[in-house]
Amino acid sequence: MRDLFYTIEELDVQPDEFWTALNYLGEAGKSGELGLLAAGLGFEHFLDLRLDEAEARAGIEGGTPRTIEGPLYVAGAPLAEGHARLDDGSDPGETLVMRGRVLGEDGKPLANALVEVWHANHLGNYSYFDPSQAAFNLRRSIRTGADGHYSFRSVVPVGYSVPPQGQTQRLLDQLGRHGHRPAHIHFFISAPGFRKLTTQINIDGDPYLWDDFAFATREGLVPVVKQAEGAQGKPYGVDGNFALIDFDFTLFRDRDNLPGAEVDRVRAEA
Ligand SMILES: [Fe+2]
Repeated sequence: MRDLFYTIEELDVQPDEFWTALNYLGEAGKSGELGLLAAGLGFEHFLDLRLDEAEARAGIEGGTPRTIEGPLYVAGAPLAEGHARLDDGSDPGETLVMRGRVLGEDGKPLANALVEVWHANHLGNYSYFDPSQAAFNLRRSIRTGADGHYSFRSVVPVGYSVPPQGQTQRLLDQLGRHGHRPAHIHFFISAPGFRKLTTQINIDGDPYLWDDFAFATREGLVPVVKQAEGAQGKPYGVDGNFALIDFDFTLFRDRDNLPGAEVDRVRAEA
């Protein structure tokens, strides 16, 4: 509060400016865009950097980088063992297979780890928030087997933008910034006794790869997208050509005297 009062003094904020700001926040709340604002103004990435720093002080370095959750997770996605198909076959995007292992910091595979994955469709829209998609389309929870492996079949997502008429875009316009995100796939990776990892991978080659309005792209989260075909697709029920991503996730053991990696925030629940 002291800092806000100082800001009013420093910027000589007039009453109509104060109420404009308050009304703006009210409108952004009403349209459900506060989560977008937090991402777009860099707050969510800043909080990630602070967690990174706390972990580094505790001797945790390396492993899979975290990056922002964003506001579009939905709890309760169907659970699969080892492998899942995320799409319902109606999306015309390029077929994607992503596979890998969940590892502990010692490099040993983690059985019974949970890979929660969600991403946008070929139009850049997320199920639940886009009611034209089936429930939990492009959202699954995948449990790793004894060898720590997970895999899923889906379609290659594309990037998306904040609502063009919304409050976030209105502010970005005034800041001279765009509201585009490069194509990406979201993950929560968790296992008993390990720090939960919130992260994303980016689809290489996207024009906004290193110009994300949410500042979420990080070194180590842009895997190579291989072109695969024929027999390679058999284990995943894929015929013909498809995009293939190999990616391992590394988790760190729970430690005392460290801020929790599990973030408590309001999330959608279907
Ligand atoms: Fe996203």
